[in-house]
Amino acid sequence: MTRTLITGGLVVTASDELHVDVLVEGGRVVALATPGSHGWTADRVLDATGKYVLPGGVDAHTHMEMPFGGTYAADTFETGTRAAAWGGTTTIVDFAIQSIGGSLQEGLDAWHGKADGRCAIDYAFHMILSDVNRSTLKEMDRLVAEGVTSFKLFMAYPGVFYSDDGRILRAMQQASGNGGLIMMHAENGIAIDVLVEQALAEGRTDPRHHGDVRKVALEAEATHRAVQLARVAGSPLYVVHVSADEAVAEIASARHKGLPVFGETCPQYLFLSTDNLAEPDFEGAKYVCSTPLRPREHQEVLWRGLRNDELQVVSTDHCPFCFSGQKEMGRGDFSKIPNGMPGVENRMDLLHQAVVEGRISRRRWIDIACASPARMFGLYPKKGTVAPGADADIVIYDPAAEQTISAATHHMNVDYSAYEGKRVTGRVETVLSRGVPVIEGGEYVGHPGHGTYLPRGTCQYL
Ligand code: URP
Ligand code: ZN
Ligand code: ZN
Repeated sequence: MTRTLITGGLVVTASDELHVDVLVEGGRVVALATPGSHGWTADRVLDATGKYVLPGGVDAHTHMEMPFGGTYAADTFETGTRAAAWGGTTTIVDFAIQSIGGSLQEGLDAWHGKADGRCAIDYAFHMILSDVNRSTLKEMDRLVAEGVTSFKLFMAYPGVFYSDDGRILRAMQQASGNGGLIMMHAENGIAIDVLVEQALAEGRTDPRHHGDVRKVALEAEATHRAVQLARVAGSPLYVVHVSADEAVAEIASARHKGLPVFGETCPQYLFLSTDNLAEPDFEGAKYVCSTPLRPREHQEVLWRGLRNDELQVVSTDHCPFCFSGQKEMGRGDFSKIPNGMPGVENRMDLLHQAVVEGRISRRRWIDIACASPARMFGLYPKKGTVAPGADADIVIYDPAAEQTISAATHHMNVDYSAYEGKRVTGRVETVLSRGVPVIEGGEYVGHPGHGTYLPRGTCQYL
């Protein structure tokens, strides 16, 4: 068994910052000790002097190869997990999709078919429920028992993924009995579709109108409704990709009442805005995602929500579509622009930039990007921390390195960066996945198939 010793770094977890050495053996962290206090020998010694030693990032919201809007997200599990590793993420939780008329198991099998043997890092699945019916509800129990313990429902996208309130309530009732966690895309899709139709009829076809029709009020209303349905069902609720101040207020108000309601936001809502959606020459299409980017003033509310634990997780909702040939499908009709943005490689660095700028503490960075997503989705403490017994998914991070984010240097399989030209301080230096180097010395040294599938436990955040 290979023994790896990481010396001289500052180990940062959600709860501690410790100048300790880390001993890794058999793919796990076996011990932490003050430098000089131990006589450890190892096959490989990694010098982390002046660097942070972090748990690998856990990105609990990705869509590799997702079919959407007549095309597919451009990252495969191979390219997307490699890019994730470059950015210091060592676990993804992607979304298997139930087709309308299909079973959950068929959806899950299809996603295993895409991912198994191809991932550079460990991976797990949530299940998207597109067709809640008697047999789906039964299947949910079996999936939870087998390690797919969270289910995404959509209040948006009528005719595609949409579930009405009755179906949502039934799924929530089922989850309240089986320990599953309901994840909600909270936007009133029925009302949005009316506004889309009206905008297009009036000739408002540019990407910025995607943001106009997907109104804050319709995110807030859906969030409120989701909270009330979960309350009636007695189930916990995790609201995905929260973008609007009023939606944060709904989650905060539910939490203040003691309800088990949680919120996730994404880097695009923290760093980008409707200004990007309004970029000329159809460039705004690069920023079309749902929920949409919001006016800049919403960012402050999201940051405050992250500091105050009104929001618990930052995931990417990585769902990349190339500008050329994919986003362009919506020229002349914003509703045909495939929804989604790239970001799996950028999350850890962007959040570190927030640390540099004083928006969040170092420990909160690791909390929202590693520990909380792991706890939320039943992966802790195997993932999300550096502690004896945990998987040795470890990032050596240089907090002083400078870099400029660009499509010219990123590793995601997409022809643009949403953060093109943004300068950030901090950079991943080395990434271990279960003790095995994946990124080392500025090189990718991993391989497809190293990543293993992770059956998950139930939510540990309750
Ligand atoms: O625009 C987005 N978010 N695309 C991915 C699908 C979803 O709703 O998460
Ligand atoms: Zn969604
Ligand atoms: Zn998503």
